[in-house]
Amino acid sequence: MTSLPHGFAGRVVRWQKTHGRSGLPWQQTRDPYRVWLSEVMLQQTQVATVLGYYERFLERFPDVAALAQASIDDVFGLWSGLGYYSRARNLHRCAQDVVALHGGEFPRSAAQLQSLPGIGRSTAAAVASFCFSEPIAILDGNVKRVLARVLAFDDDLASSANQEKLWTHAQALLPKRNLQDTMPRYTQGLMDLGATVCLVRNPSCLICPVHDQCAAFKLGAPEKYPVKTRKLKRTSQSLWLLLARSGQGYIWLEKRPDSGIWAGLYCLPVFESREALEATDGSDEPLQDGTPFMHVLTHKDLYLHPVSGQFPAAGLERREGAWFSSTEWPKLGLPAPVRKLLAGS
Ligand code: ADE
Repeated sequence: MTSLPHGFAGRVVRWQKTHGRSGLPWQQTRDPYRVWLSEVMLQQTQVATVLGYYERFLERFPDVAALAQASIDDVFGLWSGLGYYSRARNLHRCAQDVVALHGGEFPRSAAQLQSLPGIGRSTAAAVASFCFSEPIAILDGNVKRVLARVLAFDDDLASSANQEKLWTHAQALLPKRNLQDTMPRYTQGLMDLGATVCLVRNPSCLICPVHDQCAAFKLGAPEKYPVKTRKLKRTSQSLWLLLARSGQGYIWLEKRPDSGIWAGLYCLPVFESREALEATDGSDEPLQDGTPFMHVLTHKDLYLHPVSGQFPAAGLERREGAWFSSTEWPKLGLPAPVRKLLAGS
């Protein structure tokens, strides 16, 4: 690794002013509720997708008190399609903690923010630097890449001790002056560099404001950084989904358990085999197989096999669930592939 470059923060700040992103709705405010909401939505979801969800969410829950008072089903309903539903559950818990433990005001330091549900070290730092200009480093996936390249940091980030070293360097690179203005810009600038210039593949080094300070660029090998050995083990699984309809066109949905796949969402009955599905008898007519399709989760490829049938209005024997009409089910929190399936059926 090379030594820390001088004047790095100033360049990032100046570049952000002219070339960074500036019109995003969560950049027009220093309200921690709005900034926190955007950061949680943006953790695993692209800006273009987040925009609509962010607006709808704020319309329904304009402040942290409104979100704290909502039912978890309403929160899931508005989150539906964004994926990673533990984020929605933690969002709701966090709002309730802000009201119950902090008098309805978000705490103003990263250390305190980090004690809240669903707020990790980098998200806490993002909110504290954007809203309160705290000089505190963020280090999400994009920023790890930017800093590992600038420093030619070749220690393996699979080790938490090495992650900690990178956090220390990130903290040492922060702006030192005029923090009120520079901290939010610097944080945004690093995010913007990671998202628009310092890309995983084919980074645009020639337009990068820090390329002459970038050790990986000098070595001619930006894509070699960051180094991370541990690969995610991907698995796959087949699941059968029962699309049960009643005579009146209602669809049978059940609430998923609080843990595991699609925790807490409404869903079609899920089975691990066709035989297990058939054991849920009671259909008025033979079952019909739909076209199987794949759905990709973080660590798992799901092969989903829809099977449909008509069932008596009394419902599915021995199962906990209910019939929902075509005006009711679209408002529920449903897994994205189930929503797609129902919309096309
Ligand atoms: N990703 C995470 N935080 C972001 C932000 N504030 N602006 C754009 N993309 C982001």
